[in-house]
Amino acid sequence: MLIQIPSVLNAAQLQEFHQQLAAVEWSDGRGSAGYLSQQVKRNQQLPDEHPLGKQLGEVIMRSLQRNSMFTAAALPLKILPPLFNCYEGGNTYGRHVDGAIRPVAGSMHRIRTDLSATLFLSDPASYDGGELVIDDSYGPHEVKLAAGDMVLYPGTSVHQVKPVTRGQRLASFFWIQSMVREDHKRKLLYDLDRAIQQLAGTGNDNTAVGPATELAGVYHNLLRLWAEL
Ligand code: NI
Repeated sequence: MLIQIPSVLNAAQLQEFHQQLAAVEWSDGRGSAGYLSQQVKRNQQLPDEHPLGKQLGEVIMRSLQRNSMFTAAALPLKILPPLFNCYEGGNTYGRHVDGAIRPVAGSMHRIRTDLSATLFLSDPASYDGGELVIDDSYGPHEVKLAAGDMVLYPGTSVHQVKPVTRGQRLASFFWIQSMVREDHKRKLLYDLDRAIQQLAGTGNDNTAVGPATELAGVYHNLLRLWAEL
């Protein structure tokens, strides 16, 4: 399941992010990649635990905590602190898979990367290239979103970032361990959840309340069966 979540950051927050990131010193992104990914990764990144990355990451986390679409789609259990990258001057990240398990910087903890998230920070008109191309069972999908919008996709996907041939592409990216490990189960729950919300929101005569309650029971019983905490 590939889901776009609009307006994770607002215009004022984006402006603040751009001001802060303009002054930062980037590192070679290969430092955080596995051996195979290093061969195809050509970008710049803020090091783990960079104070600015931590500060901006907390802004993103606060926004996502209030985002019902994110919660319904990801059913998050643990979220790796957001990282930041910068592509310019032909930077690219060729086809790769993300590691299944990632250490949480500065701790003994690890998370399983059930979902990957990319939050676009740059206006898509300000740079050429830089599409995130995600392969799923229906083929490749090109994603290039408005600044402030985020894409969520399964950690199992092969994906790449096309070369940025003009301008600068800033993004935040991070991984989520979900309460529900499998993508197809998360999709069933998400579709059911949305249908219940629609049903509950229809009409003023309360005729939908009974069926919506029945379906909400099904939703929670499925979640109870599938969730791992
Ligand atoms: Ni990746």
